[in-house]
Amino acid sequence: MNKIEAMLAERQLPELLRFADGRAVTKENFEARRLEMVDILCREVYGYAPPAPDRVTATVLKCKEKEFAGKGRVRELSLSFPTDRGEFAFPVTEILPTGAGADARCPVFVFINFRPEVPDRYFPTEEILDAGCGVVRIYYNDVAFDGEDHFAGGIAAMYDRTRYSWGKLRMWAFAMSRVMDYLQTVDYADLSRVAAVGHSRLGKTALLAAATDTRFAMACANCSGCAGDALTRGKAGERVKQIYDRFPYWFCENYGKYAEKEAQMPFDQHFLLAAIAPRRVALGTAVEDIWADPASQYLSACAASPAWTLFDQKGFAHPDRLPVPGDCLDGGMLAYHLREGTHFLSRADWHRYLCLL
Ligand code: GCU
Repeated sequence: MNKIEAMLAERQLPELLRFADGRAVTKENFEARRLEMVDILCREVYGYAPPAPDRVTATVLKCKEKEFAGKGRVRELSLSFPTDRGEFAFPVTEILPTGAGADARCPVFVFINFRPEVPDRYFPTEEILDAGCGVVRIYYNDVAFDGEDHFAGGIAAMYDRTRYSWGKLRMWAFAMSRVMDYLQTVDYADLSRVAAVGHSRLGKTALLAAATDTRFAMACANCSGCAGDALTRGKAGERVKQIYDRFPYWFCENYGKYAEKEAQMPFDQHFLLAAIAPRRVALGTAVEDIWADPASQYLSACAASPAWTLFDQKGFAHPDRLPVPGDCLDGGMLAYHLREGTHFLSRADWHRYLCLL
């Protein structure tokens, strides 16, 4: 047993490549296991969402050509779709490299952010355009308010709570999928290169969006930590109790029962990463983000890696040691970087994601 294997053994994780009923997982039946893992995570952590609506309508509210020194077009759109209680709409901002279109399709980031501004400290818009990528930006509070409103507003109010147990993370991920619906109708998007991206609670959201919607070719989860990319068993910093006490509305109620009882969870967060296989996952972590715990984020990637190996792909290519500052491990479909500094979605992180999409 090498060092990493020994560290993983200590965490006593539920087995990834074995169905809940004990059957072994193969390349042929992996999709069934993937769906089982998504189901376990929805049941125990994030809650169940309503089915996807059968249409999404986009209305252009504003259009500015030649923004960012002429390099991009910025449009404000409203996306609306039917729900159990009538039409629900939320605004998005679409930023495209000038010239993107049917003859020049571009990769697109579906980016969910903490603020509506474009650009923003988490959103180096011009640099993304320079890399030839488009972005559709969601402001998360436009979908579901990030606070205790007892699910009385936003998208939560549009569905019966006794039927759908979804918490706010699941709601934000649902909105990312509605943007994906919209992208199916445009001529500019390279649909084989659409990534979900978010930071921190919205990094958790980006992983969940890609796990629940296979149209995403990649998930970029920045500093997502607890209930995101980090293993919960043996985790330093934030654990179930801390996160559920402060943010119960991010989750379904079941998650609370694992506070200080992590060993009883029939899952761990490597399930969330593996539920995106064989597609690409990029994890961004920061040295000083000990609340998220870079070592547990790394070990989670190690534990999820066999889901890719099953497809004869490289999963997480890593040395037999814990990460060191500056590590940038992107030799497989599951990439991980540990940058210097604090909890933040920095240009350095974006540069990694731009290289990988
Ligand atoms: C809190 C929370 C984290 C979360 C972070 C954020 O620190 O405990 O789980 O990732 O907020 O979203 O900024």
